[in-house]
Amino acid sequence: MTLWRIGYSARLLKTNRFRTAASNTSFPAVWMLLAQYSGRVPGLFVVVKKNNFFTMPETVEDKANLELYLPHPEVRGMTQLNREAFKRTVVVPVLKVKKEIVNTLLKSIKHMILQRPGLKRVVEDPEDEDSRLVILDPHKISEFSLGESDQEVLKQLNVHPEVSKYNLELTYENFKSEEILRAVLPEGQEVTSGFSRVGHIAHLNLRDHQLPYRHLIGQVIIDKNPGITCVVNKTNIIDSTYRNFQMEVLAGESNLVTKVKENNITYELDFSKVYWNPRLSTEHGRIVELLKPGDVLFDVFAGIGPFAIPAAKKKCCVFANDLNPESYSWLLHNCKLNKVGHKIKAFNMDGRDFLLGPVREELSRELPLLKEEQKTSFHIVMNLPALAIEFLDVFRHLLAGEPCSTAGLPTVHCYSFSKHDDPAKDVRERAEASLGTSLDGRCSTYLVRNVAPNKEMLCISFQIPAEVLYKRPCPDGAIPASKRVCSSRDFSEAKVELKKS
Ligand SMILES: C[S@@+](CC[C@H](N)C(=O)[O-])C[C@H]1O[C@@H](n2cnc3c(N)ncnc32)[C@H](O)[C@@H]1O
Repeated sequence: MTLWRIGYSARLLKTNRFRTAASNTSFPAVWMLLAQYSGRVPGLFVVVKKNNFFTMPETVEDKANLELYLPHPEVRGMTQLNREAFKRTVVVPVLKVKKEIVNTLLKSIKHMILQRPGLKRVVEDPEDEDSRLVILDPHKISEFSLGESDQEVLKQLNVHPEVSKYNLELTYENFKSEEILRAVLPEGQEVTSGFSRVGHIAHLNLRDHQLPYRHLIGQVIIDKNPGITCVVNKTNIIDSTYRNFQMEVLAGESNLVTKVKENNITYELDFSKVYWNPRLSTEHGRIVELLKPGDVLFDVFAGIGPFAIPAAKKKCCVFANDLNPESYSWLLHNCKLNKVGHKIKAFNMDGRDFLLGPVREELSRELPLLKEEQKTSFHIVMNLPALAIEFLDVFRHLLAGEPCSTAGLPTVHCYSFSKHDDPAKDVRERAEASLGTSLDGRCSTYLVRNVAPNKEMLCISFQIPAEVLYKRPCPDGAIPASKRVCSSRDFSEAKVELKKS
């Protein structure tokens, strides 16, 4: 039986530890030892004409295949990242080829080449400086021998279809973040390498069992995602008035002022102080798409301006409001940044006051001037899904006493969460209760996104019914108009009044 050994593996046999074991052992057993020991020593050994010599025990091959995706087992439980500890050596198939034809060969055998992050496809041949070793994927080379069609391709390129085994050293750089985290975190527990990205910030929402590893998780995310230099974890649920959440910086710089691009518009913001959700970009775009130049947009809960700024860019006239003074100042900043300051009036007040004040004033000034043939539309966006429906009662009697104009009844786009079996029905019914009228056949509901299992975010859109907007308040002057609940009788009276006017 002949055996060629090339490189470090051959030298291994000379070490004391191996000499003792090998001298008392049959050949296959030596190979087992080599394979086991090869976990530490890179090198190449040839097993050509496999049938003439021997086959590597299948268990070793299977193990090697798996090990391609498993960092060294010692890393389990690590809480401080030690990149060196991830190293391991695996046995992979290689093709030995003359260096002049490497590029041509690579194109023809792309499908067989081992792909790992940061891994070189071609390495020096330690035995022959005119040759190179092309690293193949053991999953594609069954039992370390080439299929007929692959052999044919190699023959055409004048390459001897001979597969050798090579001890490949994998390092931290060659593993994906999920593989790294799966190797570190307790076995059988959920591993997440998912995050939302806001500029240079990765934002995580870790589970309790992941918390002891949070700094390591943060560092792995920075290492594996170019452009991310700060990782934060949410430390409370998003229940603050301003819809931002407390966060802990897990790794990287503690700079939370960042720049994002959404639908081709750039925004700057302090992620620790204002609301920003990259998952809303499609929804922002959808609403802005409904607007035409010259339309008027009232954005009641505007944040830093993702509806307001693109609408102003589209030459709409925009009134944007947010109660959070930080959102308000970033909104002003972004208006300047995008050169739309002249198209946006910004406010820093409660949404209810904004509707009862600037919105009411603007509508009562502009609506009576509208002619039927005029194309201007008025839109009111209310993106505060946890609460916005409760603000809809403000529209009752908002323009009571004003000359009634049905030409430009404003369209409301109001957001809400729902955990109901029929979320559209649920949102419509709650909107109806708040407005005090039926929206049957007069509204549309749009499913924006699934927020959590069994929790949807929806947008209900409707033109404010004239009988809601223009109806006179109930004859109960003691209760403020925006707080009062009227009976359905009041609304049928309002309809009659409207018909008369
Ligand atoms: C869900 S965020 C939406 C922000 C922005 N429209 C967007 O789509 O990204 C809701 C915003 O409403 C603001 N807000 C919360 N309560 C408010 C209130 N009572 N009046 C006005 N703004 C309020 C928060 O500060 C936050 O910026």
